[in-house]
Amino acid sequence: MVGPETGFFNEQVSRDQLPKEEERTGVLKFQILHNNLKEKPPDQHLIWLVGLKNVFSHQLPRMPKEYITRIVFDPKHQSLGLIKENTVIGGICFRMFPTQNFLEIVFCAIAANEQVKGYGTHMMNTLKDYAIRHNILHFLTYADESAIGYFRKQGFSRDIKLSRQAYLGYIKDYEGATLMECELNPRVPYTQFSIIINKQKEVIRQLIERKQAEIRKVHTGLSFSQGVHRIDIQEIPGILETGWKSSPEDSSKHNELDKDPEKLSVVLRNVLNQVKGHPNVWPFKEPVKEDEYPDYYETIRYPIDLHTVSERLKSGYYSCCRLFIADMLRIFRNCRTYNEKSSDYYKYANAVERFFINKMKEVGAMVDMT
Ligand code: COA
Repeated sequence: MVGPETGFFNEQVSRDQLPKEEERTGVLKFQILHNNLKEKPPDQHLIWLVGLKNVFSHQLPRMPKEYITRIVFDPKHQSLGLIKENTVIGGICFRMFPTQNFLEIVFCAIAANEQVKGYGTHMMNTLKDYAIRHNILHFLTYADESAIGYFRKQGFSRDIKLSRQAYLGYIKDYEGATLMECELNPRVPYTQFSIIINKQKEVIRQLIERKQAEIRKVHTGLSFSQGVHRIDIQEIPGILETGWKSSPEDSSKHNELDKDPEKLSVVLRNVLNQVKGHPNVWPFKEPVKEDEYPDYYETIRYPIDLHTVSERLKSGYYSCCRLFIADMLRIFRNCRTYNEKSSDYYKYANAVERFFINKMKEVGAMVDMT
């Protein structure tokens, strides 16, 4: 017997379900049939071999009967017989070329009244498992036009992976037929294949369902009852469930002070007052007057000055060091953009900026601004 080990997974409907069920209940069985001259096969095997020859003769009318008989009873060929209630209902006649790593399928047929019930599929899968057990990983066959569809569904293709030298001169050549190959994967238990695929489909369906249930979940959202204050991204309900992770760079862009709005405001006000006391700070104290510099607001898209920064600080706009530093540095950058490098303004911008950065570092409020 060459049947599969069954019953590992729960089965769902598939093409080979009926034959597998019949095999499980003992109605159906596979048998390797072989006209072995050295060791006489049991009479029953020879009777089944004759039955199989008849199935081939009926189902392959274009093949001469004598030729079928010669090949089926040739000692170099074997057949996988499909026996249902002691009668042969189909089979595959093949020849193995172990040194060439391939198996040639010569005839393959199912009796007319048993076709399209999945026997052809299960029979081919059984032969695949049998070949793998004998270390053969390629099937070759010449398929006539009407059989190409069936072989394609069994994993055969016109794209021959085996090198020509491996089969040239070994395989029988049929005029008008198409050479097809099926490459076997030794890790696939072919007779269990449909069960495994169904099981995998079921697992994927459950995973999708679980993921969708998570996606559909409605989170409570943010509360502003205590006023507006800065929070870390991961505190937003639902963010962590999306797989979000903070990167090390994120933490270098924040400062411990950001967590305490009152302390932050005191520290920033202190630095701002010191900057306002710098001897070169006067050009940056108020917004640039348009009547004095008519093209200023055409050149500088985002103007800012220390008075505006003070107003923003009072209103609680600076929820973190980073926002405050960005505005302050923009004051000096704008100045350098508008003025010549040789101008006093340019030099003042550099001097006050250096002073500002040093003060921020002194109070531990500087963050990475890249
Ligand atoms: N052309 C295209 N598709 C075919 C086919 C053919 N000649 N014969 C079967 N199929 C399809 C089936 O519709 C089924 O498709 P599905 O799974 O998408 O529904 C699939 O192949 C397998 O069907 P299954 O029931 O397992 O096959 P079977 O028991 O009918 O056996 C043959 C298939 C080819 C062996 C059988 O039809 C037969 O004996 N035909 C006459 C002899 C022959 O042509 N042999 C092949 C060359 S030696």
